[in-house]
Amino acid sequence: NQNADRQHILDTLRLSREQLLEVKRRFSEEMTRGLSKQTHKQASIKMLPTYVRSTPDGSEHGDFLALDLGGSSFRVLLVRVRSGTKRSVDMQQKIYSIPQEIMQGTGEELFNHIVDCIADFLEYMGMKGASLPLGFTFSFPCDQTKLDEVIFFHRYEYVCLLCFQEFDLNFVAVVNDTVGTMMTCGYEDPKCEVGLIVGTGTNACYMEEMHNIELVEDDNGRMCVNVEWGAFGENGELEEFCTEFDRLVDACSNYPGKQRYEKMISGMYLGEIVRNVLLDFTAKGLLFRGKVSERLKTRGIFETKFLSQIESDRLAMRQVRSILQHLGLTGSTCDDSVLVKEVCSVVARRAAQLSGAGLAAVVDKIRQNRNLNQLSITVGVDGTLYKTHPHFSAIMQETLRDLAPQCEVTFLKSEDGSGKGAALITAVACRVKNEGQ
Ligand code: BG6
Repeated sequence: NQNADRQHILDTLRLSREQLLEVKRRFSEEMTRGLSKQTHKQASIKMLPTYVRSTPDGSEHGDFLALDLGGSSFRVLLVRVRSGTKRSVDMQQKIYSIPQEIMQGTGEELFNHIVDCIADFLEYMGMKGASLPLGFTFSFPCDQTKLDEVIFFHRYEYVCLLCFQEFDLNFVAVVNDTVGTMMTCGYEDPKCEVGLIVGTGTNACYMEEMHNIELVEDDNGRMCVNVEWGAFGENGELEEFCTEFDRLVDACSNYPGKQRYEKMISGMYLGEIVRNVLLDFTAKGLLFRGKVSERLKTRGIFETKFLSQIESDRLAMRQVRSILQHLGLTGSTCDDSVLVKEVCSVVARRAAQLSGAGLAAVVDKIRQNRNLNQLSITVGVDGTLYKTHPHFSAIMQETLRDLAPQCEVTFLKSEDGSGKGAALITAVACRVKNEGQ
């Protein structure tokens, strides 16, 4: 029976409560290994210290610059943070493009270009010659290779260091987008001590006790840890929960074996999992009348936005069919549309549950750190998948409630963690520095 065959395949993508609990347990274990000096190198989750020692408390005050360096453009932002009764964050920004030849040119050319743009911005703002604290963020195009990212990173770092000398910019904060997300929400809600991204990629950060961060000498207070959680599974922790489709997606990716958790969760890969399931169904004669089209064989046709659209409750099957047609998957029947929607739903549900399991490990760790029976905490979230998918957030929260019942978690959507967040990280760092003086 064809339907039984289909369900049998889809069942491999469904996780039981026990399996999710096991994912949470393994995740917790890996976090501890990542924090420990002895096991840090072997751990799949790197638990990187960010040197961000505090979330905003509202007393931050001053003018800050933020640089958000992307693949083909970058932004310069002036962020005015005011405390007291006029408590506010006010931003002005300008976007500059980085021409291809400069991007591929020498570090010096890139540096000169960025310097020109900062000079232009300061002049435009009527602040020529001002010496301001500055934070900078790197957001890279997602299909960039890891190696390139490292080279890019060093190149940017070098460029930025030169910029600081040139402009007498007096403080530096390198910003990870999860931390920017946490800080942006932390300004609105002091209970926000976790940052989460579920977009093209996925990652999280949270406030950890310093004495648990063995890579940093100091034992006092807290520090934000960049979990780098996408790498979970690189030691085989997710092997038994993976399907043949996950293995295919991994094998065809730029980095086979890397970022296994991310490959089961983030927008960049979910569409690929769906496509591989559809290919298998079609090859087995269970879909599209058994006709494998060239289009279906094309990598990357299912973008996150299609997954979100297809699962929209307001959509009639006729519209699902037109989305498929738009994707170039013509000749589908009504039954085909129903099945495609089900595949999308199963794949997205698993992603939401897996991220919920990781998050459960994170919040439970914070609760245990503080010896609390019950923890009330806020998570700042960003990312297109989380924000646009009709069911992702609800399923993730339901899983979290189930797997971490002693934590009451509120979710706050973040805007512009890489710009506003970068400035707030700088603002908090300046506040902490002044407090220490
Ligand atoms: C943006 C943040 O809003 O969301 C970035 O400013 C973050 O810091 C991004 O990286 C993640 O979402 P996506 O879906 O674009 O990958």
